[in-house]
Amino acid sequence: MKGLFITFEGAEGCGKSTQVELLARQLRALGHRVRTLREPGGTSIGEEIRHTLKHSQHNQAMTAEAELLLMNASRAQLVRETIRPALAAGEIVLCDRFYDSTTAYQGYGRQLDLNVVRTVIEIAVGDTRPDLTLLLTVPSEVGERRRAARQASLPFLRDRMEEADKSFFERVARGYEAIAAAEPERVRAVDSSGSLESVCLKIWPFVQPQLPKIGRW
Ligand code: TMP
Repeated sequence: MKGLFITFEGAEGCGKSTQVELLARQLRALGHRVRTLREPGGTSIGEEIRHTLKHSQHNQAMTAEAELLLMNASRAQLVRETIRPALAAGEIVLCDRFYDSTTAYQGYGRQLDLNVVRTVIEIAVGDTRPDLTLLLTVPSEVGERRRAARQASLPFLRDRMEEADKSFFERVARGYEAIAAAEPERVRAVDSSGSLESVCLKIWPFVQPQLPKIGRW
């Protein structure tokens, strides 16, 4: 039996995490079994890796290559420990970020060789690929404002990823545009600058046609 795999992507402050939860609620109300996950993280091992990548006091000197491998170590664990078994059991898996984040952040943002990035992703995911990817977009000023508000609300929680400069986040945004252009069937862009409800309403028409796939052998 096969479930459905939907990933959410976008820059910091695009509202992904909230939309993951809202969609999960909507799908559960229709009787579906839904699993929500996040990357990096989602497993005990992955959450330790997430801490190393983002908040550890010892991560200042992390190289782009180490970052690429750690993101994908977390992913390799999540795919095998959780995503594949959940899909095999016919669940809907909603993941807050997946491999497009690696292409956008480590490929375009950190400017690592895109072929190397692709190879590492392949090792991590094999043939476990999303059925649908929702790319939430906000104008960069909105994203920056939301990012600053989040940092201000958690003043003691340093996040190494958010310490990058403006040009890094501009390259990430260009990366996401390139990903969406390369795979328009899978990757659907949704403007997420409006209210939570309006964004939900824009997401649903992309999700609904996927539902008949569930349970197909
Ligand atoms: P978030 O959970 O708040 O979105 O934080 C995750 C951070 O990690 C975010 O800055 C994006 C970054 N990231 C990568 O750089 N590459 C990846 O492959 C993933 C999954 C996340």
